[in-house]
Amino acid sequence: MFDWMLPEKHAIALLKKDHDTVKELFEKFEKTDSSAEKEKIITKAVEELKVHAAIEEELFYPAVRNHVGKDLMNEADEEHHVARMLIAELDANAAPDHRFAKFTVLAESVRHHIKEEENETLPKAKELDIDFEALGQQMLDRKKDLKQNGIPADAEHAMVVKANGKGDSPAAASRRGSSFDRKTAKKAVPRNGKTSTKARTGL
Ligand SMILES: [Fe+2]
Repeated sequence: MFDWMLPEKHAIALLKKDHDTVKELFEKFEKTDSSAEKEKIITKAVEELKVHAAIEEELFYPAVRNHVGKDLMNEADEEHHVARMLIAELDANAAPDHRFAKFTVLAESVRHHIKEEENETLPKAKELDIDFEALGQQMLDRKKDLKQNGIPADAEHAMVVKANGKGDSPAAASRRGSSFDRKTAKKAVPRNGKTSTKARTGL
């Protein structure tokens, strides 16, 4: 079992603290029936997740990537990407009828990511002989900066904005009352792998 008894500013202790904060927010979201309360929790959790992902990607991941290895690290990158897509859709209020479901799936996906980090990535990273407290201090400074000055733009938000509210095909299908249109699907994925504009946009 991994020993979490680490100095307060140890980079891994800071990540663990962030994980506990978001897990608590996910639990509160599940326990409340109030839509207003759910919205408040979404706002807070999304802010926490954006800052957390930024300090991991800018500072922690580059410091440990080679030692942890590309399999785990690439998976972590992809999990961040999926979380960012859902966050971008929540920010854009895409598929408002699916908003709470979208956040529930974000929470499930982040819980899985946290489990993998805490069971595999962080114990492996801790083997490294680096100054984890100095790294932790850099992470704290960057966190403060991000909270004061905002999160840098990302490609996932740009994609969602470009889709102009039409990027969630299962939610759109549920609104139309059909979950699967075989004709459109056939056109959408022809043998050559290229999709038509109509199929891509669903228009
Ligand atoms: Fe992460």
